Amino acid sequence: MKICCIGAGYVGGPTMAMIALKCHDITVTVVDMNAARIAAWNSGTLPIFEPGLDDVVKQARGRNLFFSTDVAGQIKQADIIFVAVNTPTKTYGVGAGRAADLRYIESVARTIAEHAETGKIIVEKSTIPVKTADAIKTIVASNSKGLKFSVLSNPEFLAEGTAVADLLNPDRVLIGGERTPEGEKAMATLAGVYARWVPRDRIITTNLWSSELSKLVANAFLAQRISSINSISALCEATGADVDEVANAIGKDSRIGPKFLKSSVGFGGSCFQKDILNLTYLCESFGLPEVAAYWTSVVGINDWQKQRFAARIVKELFNTVADKKIAVLGFAFKKDTNDTRESAAINVVRDLLAEHAKVSVYDPKVPAEEIRRDVLGKPSTGSGQEATDNPRLTVAKDAYEACAGAHAIAIVTEWDEFKTLDYAKIFAGMPKPACLFDGRNIVDLAALRKIGFKASGIGKPPGGRREGDVA
Ligand code: UDX
Ligand code: UDX
Repeated sequence: MKICCIGAGYVGGPTMAMIALKCHDITVTVVDMNAARIAAWNSGTLPIFEPGLDDVVKQARGRNLFFSTDVAGQIKQADIIFVAVNTPTKTYGVGAGRAADLRYIESVARTIAEHAETGKIIVEKSTIPVKTADAIKTIVASNSKGLKFSVLSNPEFLAEGTAVADLLNPDRVLIGGERTPEGEKAMATLAGVYARWVPRDRIITTNLWSSELSKLVANAFLAQRISSINSISALCEATGADVDEVANAIGKDSRIGPKFLKSSVGFGGSCFQKDILNLTYLCESFGLPEVAAYWTSVVGINDWQKQRFAARIVKELFNTVADKKIAVLGFAFKKDTNDTRESAAINVVRDLLAEHAKVSVYDPKVPAEEIRRDVLGKPSTGSGQEATDNPRLTVAKDAYEACAGAHAIAIVTEWDEFKTLDYAKIFAGMPKPACLFDGRNIVDLAALRKIGFKASGIGKPPGGRREGDVA
């Protein structure tokens, strides 16, 4: 069997590497129109940082895992074609800012129709709006060669930073297809690939539309939990309750469960916001404005949480940060990844620059050019920041350099190394009062206060005083 995957990104690369690792007899080739990306997959430095991935790629690459730019050639040879191209939020025309931009999906469908010489199973890996399989089917069916194609939906649920573990041991594999003899056969073929390492009872088959929709709904539910706890974090700050204690108390209820209740500066990543916007757009298209409004509020709370964090820094620094140095620790959207898409750090840094702060950013994995491009190189989002260079933004080589001489430290990504910094040494090099804002609740605020910091967390009682505390 030969598998081809179009799109060598965060999803296509790791997923195909795992299939190749587990199925020695299947030749897996990942193709991409971006030659630099393919060259990186073939080099010693992979284009994405993902714990454990180097090892998986090293074992399979050259044996039955290949990376190539020969899209047409690999389409011809493949029995199964995965489509893992990006589906960003549309930035133009009808649905701009919310609907998914399907132009890459359509172009891939046309390329398959053009080059295929035999019938194939086409698998949607990309996250797409419900009914996209219909469009793919119509495009490939309109090829003049009379070939038979089956279209399946097989959304990917891996999270960045834990991709290898998630692929090795998924909670479930979801495969949607047509309930026809050909559709059932295609689903059985794909299920047979995953069954090499995933227990059969975790491989779920559904109709196409349920599978397409389940991916959007899974991400919407996960994001909704974060917005729910983040909304409560504001109430905790106002009342003296502690959001981590509240999350722990409610998470012990087995009906609620403990995961995805960590309050933060706001969720980021390429999926949550995009998929919720996509879902709300779908709801409106199907005449369900109430449902759309419900899910839109999840994104609204997230935007508010990001603004609230930056605004709190300004407020605590006597309502002005102009010409004050602020150290921003972490820029990736979560730890253990170099991905910055939709990272809360972008908004926080932009808001601080708009207040004329001097911002020094440090992230262990994100290169300086990426940080500068994310903050300055894209059009302003209303922060007043223009898309030009800004000498107030600097990128430090480590946390100590970022914090030296800073009036305040803002922890924005929960990298483990920020838990064990020598905060006494950092404190000694800061003007007083020295402030620290923990946007991830990872450091010991009481210990920092002992050193002398004015330290605050998300949803934490101010100054460590708690209503219920006995003096
Ligand atoms: C994935 C999914 O596919 C997306 O739908 C989901 O919502 C998030 O995760 P991701 O792997 O993160 O996307 O995207 P990205 O890292 O941008 O990779 C996509 C790749 O597809 C890029 O390398 C791009 O060059 C390639 N591509 C895109 C093609 O090869 N051909 C195209 O026509 C378009
Ligand atoms: C998410 C889904 O988890 C995954 O199933 C899907 O395939 C893709 O989208 P990802 O975006 O890679 O994965 O990471 P995730 O761990 O879900 O984190 C998303 C954002 O939420 C991050 O910014 C993270 O820091 C934040 N988060 C997560 C919280 O703020 N609190 C939490 O409790 C969990």
